[in-house]
Amino acid sequence: MNCHASSVQFRYPGVMLAVLIFGLVLLSSLPVESKFKSLHCANYDKSLGEILLCRIKAINRYRNSISIQFRQKKTVNNVQMRLELFKRANGWRPFLYNISFNLCDFLSKRNNMIIGLGYEYIKPYIPMTNYTCPFKKNHLIKCTDLEFDIEKFRVRFPIETGEYALQLSFIVQRKVTLTLNGSAEYFNYREH
Ligand SMILES: *[C@@H]1O[C@H](CO)[C@@H](O)[C@H](O)[C@H]1NC(C)=O
Ligand SMILES: *[C@@H]1O[C@H](CO)[C@@H](O)[C@H](O)[C@H]1NC(C)=O
Ligand SMILES: *[C@@H]1O[C@H](CO)[C@@H](O)[C@H](O)[C@H]1NC(C)=O
Repeated sequence: MNCHASSVQFRYPGVMLAVLIFGLVLLSSLPVESKFKSLHCANYDKSLGEILLCRIKAINRYRNSISIQFRQKKTVNNVQMRLELFKRANGWRPFLYNISFNLCDFLSKRNNMIIGLGYEYIKPYIPMTNYTCPFKKNHLIKCTDLEFDIEKFRVRFPIETGEYALQLSFIVQRKVTLTLNGSAEYFNYREH
């Protein structure tokens, strides 16, 4: 937000001060806004499973959520994952993290702190919190009404206004079988 001096002349310093204080109170009560902008789910190996749901749902003007459902068609014993973060600046630029890890190892040992933070965040949105490998045939993996609450991340990472994207790739036997990529916009009124 840009506050330009208006043509109104303040004759009394007291009024000036009152306006200034009012302005500061207003600014600090403005919300930060964070919303999903896009979501793409791409299935590259339909023999392994199918995407049943991949959508963004509006809650109100300021909030929305995403839901994803994937049904396994084959039992999978080992899954490698890649997590890539991007920030929009003349197209998407890599940002902060590009992490590869073994999903089965993570689920049984919780051996990655960064992934652990993300997992703690999405846990309430996935019905069964103790997923472990193997991922069995006909298993339904779902994430329901996940909201983007930037305040939970801001505590740990300095995040400025902008559009960010996260791409998750599932890799089975060295081939990318599924990618989920979503972007979210974050607007901090206090910065403007
Ligand atoms: C992340 O790392 C992988 C493997 O090194 C690479 O292929 C990929 O391009 C990287 N992604 C980004 C966004 O830099
Ligand atoms: C996961 O937790 C549920 C409920 O707590 C339990 O019924 C199920 O057996 C657990 N599954 C595994 C693989 O531990
Ligand atoms: C996400 O996927 C869509 C469709 O494949 C692609 O256009 C977009 O560039 C991807 N975003 C990122 C950040 O990779």
